[in-house]
Amino acid sequence: MIIAANWKMNPPLDVAGSLATAFNSVSLQPVKRILFAPHPYLTTISARLGRGEVQLGGQDCHQDAAGAHTGDVSAGMLRDCGASIVLLGHSERRANHGETSALVAAKARQALAHGLDVMICLGETEDERQAGQAEQIVIDQLRVSVPGDMSQDRLMIAYEPVWAIGTGEVASLDDIATMHNAIASELPKTHSGKVAQPVPILYGGSVNAQNAADILALDNVDGGLVGGASLDAEAFASICYSARAQLSKS
Ligand code: PGA
Repeated sequence: MIIAANWKMNPPLDVAGSLATAFNSVSLQPVKRILFAPHPYLTTISARLGRGEVQLGGQDCHQDAAGAHTGDVSAGMLRDCGASIVLLGHSERRANHGETSALVAAKARQALAHGLDVMICLGETEDERQAGQAEQIVIDQLRVSVPGDMSQDRLMIAYEPVWAIGTGEVASLDDIATMHNAIASELPKTHSGKVAQPVPILYGGSVNAQNAADILALDNVDGGLVGGASLDAEAFASICYSARAQLSKS
């Protein structure tokens, strides 16, 4: 079980520091926690987290190792600032920065070359779901976004229906289960990388303290990627407790 906080372009530094300290002050093992923090805060948050249980990640990286890319951040820089994982292909980056699945794969290769783990986001828009194309879109994104030869023990997938992100609208448990099963059965077909363990598949999109237990109880749901609720230490901890309770049942 993995519960990841995606802070996006939030909050101000003083709040971020206290939140990180709050995350660090409880032990939630064996639940694995990840914090995707804004890039300028990584060094500060890394110092706050120290050698605790929370893994620190960046929210994007460039596909090149270095060069004339004003405003971009390289995988090596993330690593230098204390990150050991990067979130790639979030739908906000795909929509706001025109990122394609091929670009996401190039970024993933760069991240891997710098020793970072990679969490790749997939998800259909509302129109695509209404048109009955959700599964095809997500599987196509999966096939192209994940480098075919990447070692699967460095990879995590987050399924996040675009229409469920930040809207309070959650996909139905049936729809989540169907999509996670489709992703889980596609992964071994499309990726020849070394399989040390199954690739974790997280659900994201309005996960909160109230709905987490039901979502995390589904087959092939190995955790949650949490935006809004991760800006509240208690709500985030409560989601992590649901994950821990689920682990003790299974
Ligand atoms: P949300 O965001 O939990 O606020 O819906 C999830 C995400 O975008 O990762």
